[in-house]
Amino acid sequence: MAGVRPFPLTALRHPAVTTLLNEHRGLLADLLNGLGSPLHVVLPEVFEENITGLRQAFAETGADVDILFAKKANKADCFVRSAAALGVGVDAASSAELVKALGGGVPGHRIGISGPEKDDSLHALAVQHDCLVAVDSISELRRLAATARLAHRQVRVVLRSRTNSQPGSRFGMAKAERDAAVGLCVELEDHVSFLGFSFHLGGYSPEERAIAANEMIEHCLDARRRGAVSAELVDLGGGLPMRYVDPRLWDEFLQQNEPAQYHGTKAAKGFSFYPYGGHPTAQAARMIMSHPVDGDESLSAKAARHGIRFLVEPGRSLLDQAGFTVYRVQQVEDRRDTDGYAIVTVAGNSLSLSEPWFNTDYLPDPVLISGEPAADELFPACVGGATCLENDMVTWRKIGFPRPVRPGDHLVYLNTAGYHMDFIESRFHDTALPSKAVLRLGDDGAAPQWRLDGI
Ligand SMILES: Cc1ncc(COP(=O)(O)O)c(C=O)c1O
Repeated sequence: MAGVRPFPLTALRHPAVTTLLNEHRGLLADLLNGLGSPLHVVLPEVFEENITGLRQAFAETGADVDILFAKKANKADCFVRSAAALGVGVDAASSAELVKALGGGVPGHRIGISGPEKDDSLHALAVQHDCLVAVDSISELRRLAATARLAHRQVRVVLRSRTNSQPGSRFGMAKAERDAAVGLCVELEDHVSFLGFSFHLGGYSPEERAIAANEMIEHCLDARRRGAVSAELVDLGGGLPMRYVDPRLWDEFLQQNEPAQYHGTKAAKGFSFYPYGGHPTAQAARMIMSHPVDGDESLSAKAARHGIRFLVEPGRSLLDQAGFTVYRVQQVEDRRDTDGYAIVTVAGNSLSLSEPWFNTDYLPDPVLISGEPAADELFPACVGGATCLENDMVTWRKIGFPRPVRPGDHLVYLNTAGYHMDFIESRFHDTALPSKAVLRLGDDGAAPQWRLDGI
């Protein structure tokens, strides 16, 4: 039976990744053999490069922006250490994340605490270490202030506000509650140092983020009029986009995308994809800050005029190209004659490579590493995990591999450091969680150095 022709969705590659895949296959094979499949390779040098690039992009706009790395996007310790070394803060959303940030060398005053209705133990740790706490409600503000009073300390606070574009969000305060919270901050000033506003915005639109940031500037100005003279900070949250594939290819993919491109019936119910062909992160940062908000005045110019500074909490986008995931092929069931495509089963499961939401597929093509020469015809295949779950598909989409896939081959999924590696990883079937090998490329062609993360 003839199948559909798989669409090539080639993943973009950092030069360091290209070097590793072209020149250091032996090392990657040894690591996979020694540490097990799948193996996550993490590249702190690329993460550090992304920090420098983002800082530069914001600096070019004249905006005063501090970066907090949203730790939830990857659990590897090496990224926190890199952040600490470069003087970048961390956004932590649990006590465990806060402890890891401190343990990695990030000082408490550079740590932001986010997440809805945080518990008292997280509050207490945050107070003790002078972290900035994004408060979600009046009741949370009262609990936090009580914790600070008990500790004889003052806690630094931003109030999370709902935005006009997403008023139905479950996060943050609508106008009446926000106004009351500002009043309460003024009343509780012995224990609460109120600095400004944060917001949660679903999606990756730079324009929408700029408009929301402008609303927060207005809230700061309003709070100042009401006596909260220290209101000077707008926390932009995360959600900076990043680019996994060429945008023209992405548009083409979206136009021709159809259920027949996928294994099984799941796709027929409709996927919800990350926008893989989105703006590069630095460009998005410039778009946010240059967005006109008052007539012709840009967001950054308006902020400067009013003495407002910004925080931004990127997770995924700071990890752009800072890691990849390698699976060993365990078995291949060739159904090309009956179904038009093969089913590749890899050692490991799909929870080690996922988007941070459900009903979706990680779309960039995996790279096949095998000893065989390229064939004349594509080898169409989807990729399943080695579990007893029908829906454990690492790639639902049929991939057009350039040569037949064989047991023992390696599949490399590129650009997986931002959420894909470990957001929902699982020890299902009593298997170990995948290892993370931290790789640093040597200078001038020296061999790359590796170590296990956390050691
Ligand atoms: C409060 C907060 N900050 C930062 C982030 C990180 O977002 P991203 O990884 O899209 O940059 C999130 C994402 O959930 C968030 O909720």
